Amino acid sequence: MENNRLVQANGVTVRAGDQALIYNVDFHIDTNEIVGIAGESGSGKSMLTKVILNILPKDCRQTDGEVVVLGQRMNGLTNQAKDKLITSGLGLVPQNTVVYLHPLIKIQSQMIDGYIHRKLGSKKEAIEKASGLLKEVGIDDPKRVLNSYPAQLSGGMRQRVNIAMALMSDPKLLIADEPTTALDCVVQQQVLDLFVQLNQTRHVAIIMISHNLDLLRAYCSRVYVMYAGRIVESGNADAVFNDPKHPYTKALLSLIPGLEVDKTKPLAELPGMVPEKDRDRTSCIFAPRCPKAADACGQTIQPVDDNDRYILCPFADSKPKEVA
Ligand SMILES: Nc1ncnc2c1ncn2[C@@H]1O[C@H](COP(=O)(O)OP(=O)(O)OP(=O)(O)O)[C@@H](O)[C@H]1O
Ligand SMILES: [Mg+2]
Repeated sequence: MENNRLVQANGVTVRAGDQALIYNVDFHIDTNEIVGIAGESGSGKSMLTKVILNILPKDCRQTDGEVVVLGQRMNGLTNQAKDKLITSGLGLVPQNTVVYLHPLIKIQSQMIDGYIHRKLGSKKEAIEKASGLLKEVGIDDPKRVLNSYPAQLSGGMRQRVNIAMALMSDPKLLIADEPTTALDCVVQQQVLDLFVQLNQTRHVAIIMISHNLDLLRAYCSRVYVMYAGRIVESGNADAVFNDPKHPYTKALLSLIPGLEVDKTKPLAELPGMVPEKDRDRTSCIFAPRCPKAADACGQTIQPVDDNDRYILCPFADSKPKEVA
C-alpha cells in the first residue's frame, strides 16, 4: 500500500438484514487530495463514509471487504482502537449540519468536550485551540461565538463552526457530506473556498460529497460516481466529466444545464428510481434505466479498470475520446 494513502476500501459491502445497501465498493484517498462522490439520493454516498468512520447505524453492518485507515486494517481492531484511530486522523462535517449542532449547548462545550474527553489537552488549551480554529475558518469574534447557542448564529457561521470542530484533532482527512446544501449561493461559495484554503494551508485531504456535479467538477481532482450502492465510474475528475463513459454518468451530466446539453431541448430527466433491492446482483444494476441496455447487461459485469479509470459497464471503452 502506498504510504500517502489515508483511506482504502476494498470490496466493501454494507447490509441491513440481508439487504445490501452498498456492494463491493473500492475507494481510496491520498494525502492532500480533494475527491468527490456523486450520485442520486439513496445511492450510498453517506453510507460509504459511515463505514470508513466506523459509525454505521445500529441496524447496518459491514459484511464483506476491508477498510484500511492510515495504514491500519480496521477489521482486526477493537472498537476502542478504531475510535482512537478515526477520531485522531479523520474529521467529519456531517450531512444536515445546520441542524447537527445541539441546540441547547453552547458552542464552546460542543467544540471542546471531545478534545478534553480524548485527553488531547487541558480545558484552557482546548479553548485556545477552538478560538484559533474559529479564526482560521473566518470567524472574527471567536469569543462571542464560543459563548453562543447555535440558534444565535447564521447558517454559514454554523457551518464554519462545524468545520472548526472537525479540525479540533488536526485530522489528515475531512469528510464533507453535502457541505453546502442548506446554504444560500454566496455563503456556499465562501464555504467551498474555505475548504480549498484548508486543503492548501493544512494539506488536509477532503472527501466532498455532493449532488452538485458542477461543484465537484470545480473542486475535485478525482471523482467517484455511485449508483444504487455501487461505484459505477471513477477517475480523474476532468476525464470523467469531459468524457463520461458510463451511461449513468452521462445521464447525470445531461441533467446539468449548460454542460454537454442542447439548450433548445427540454431538460432531460432520468426516469425511474434508484433501486433498493438486489443491489448485490452481479449483473448491471443500472440496466432497467439504461438507454443502452442489452443482453450482455444481464450477465456478470466485468469492470474496465485501467489507468485510474474504472467503469462498471460491459460496453465501456476507457480510451479517451479522440479529439479531431
Ligand atoms: N439506518 C438504515 N437502515 C437501513 N437502510 C438504511 C439506513 N440508512 C440508510 N439506509 C439505506 O441505505 C441506502 C444508502 O443511503 P445513503 O444515506 O448512504 O444515501 P446517500 O447517497 O447519502 O443519499 P442522499 O444524497 O439522500 O444523502 C439507501 O437505500 C437508504 O435507504
Ligand atoms: Mg447522504
